Amino acid sequence: MQINGKHYRTIWVKEGAEPTVQVIDQRKLPHAFVIEDLNTIDDFARAIREMHVRGAPLIGATAAYGLYNALYHAPADKRRLGKYMRDAVELLQNTRPTAINLNYALNRMMNAIEPVEEMEKMLQLALQTANTIAEESIEHCRAIGEHGLEIIQKISKKKKGEPVNILTHCNAGWLACIDHGTATAPIYAAHTAGIPVHVWVDETRPRNQGANLTAYELLQQGVPNTVITDNAGGHLMQHGMVDLVIVGSDRTTLRGDVANKIGTYLKALAARDNRVPFYVALPSSSFDWSINDGLKEIPIEQRNPDEVRYVHGWFNGKIYKVLITPQDSQAANYSFDVTPAHLVSGLITERGICKASRRGIVKLFPEAGK
Ligand code: MRU
Repeated sequence: MQINGKHYRTIWVKEGAEPTVQVIDQRKLPHAFVIEDLNTIDDFARAIREMHVRGAPLIGATAAYGLYNALYHAPADKRRLGKYMRDAVELLQNTRPTAINLNYALNRMMNAIEPVEEMEKMLQLALQTANTIAEESIEHCRAIGEHGLEIIQKISKKKKGEPVNILTHCNAGWLACIDHGTATAPIYAAHTAGIPVHVWVDETRPRNQGANLTAYELLQQGVPNTVITDNAGGHLMQHGMVDLVIVGSDRTTLRGDVANKIGTYLKALAARDNRVPFYVALPSSSFDWSINDGLKEIPIEQRNPDEVRYVHGWFNGKIYKVLITPQDSQAANYSFDVTPAHLVSGLITERGICKASRRGIVKLFPEAGK
């Protein structure tokens, strides 16, 4: 996708400086565009934990490149390699608990390199696998866009060319992935196809991924959008101002329960009450086929309460952090919630659209039922 007319991905190997990897430091957006070098495994872990990078697919890809980087710096003594790599996996795994793409990427990396003996070959395979994870993510998001486009096309026809109003929560855009995004992919595909769309962007407290990131990337691609407070969606739906909701997912279970950014569930409830279609866009790497009951089985990240107590904003060329609660207030920072499958109109995946049910998912992904 474009930033000031130049094509970017969210992560890439620094040219001529392997194993350094570069990412866009998302903490600074939309006010400053800063590219950050990740040089060591600790840099990768910090970047994920402290949300320099975020979004399920990007977290996965960053962890994959982190393992490649760790392997590059591995001790020469082969007897220490096994424990060294297990520690690296553990460090990355413990950064963020909810997005399943992290486990997916780490397992895939270890399955690729573990059977290999020779260090040079291992390194080559590690880089190749991390690159493949990134490339596949791009291709999956592109395909999600193609399938989701059909939903927008149908609504546009009914509206006789009036703009289709789509509400989204958090940032499930290209910044959360490698390119295209998940929830945004159908929106970008529609915009490119000349279908008029307008996006309601939930600001997404406390980290404001909607206001900071989704609004930024939509503006960069020229897609009309309006930032709203997190509580406005229900009102807009009651007044016929939302035609469709599309969100992303950090982990979706075999029966179709969806974990996504805190507040997603409330949007699904409002959508159901107002008969607004509520779709979840996700690549297969965001499914957790080993679990069914999302409420009981998906670990929900609780982050630092200070993210609730303080807000960050831009003033006179600098980012400031200001306190918005009484100094001594307790705060709780539940980061994700689970939307039960029965509230989801459908899952938009790289293989097509399916019902949020075991049957629907296994029809598209027979390997899930095994
Ligand atoms: O805490 P974040 O910013 O990593 O949460 C991101 C989300 O909840 C996204 O909606 C989700 O990862 C889907 S991303 C394509």
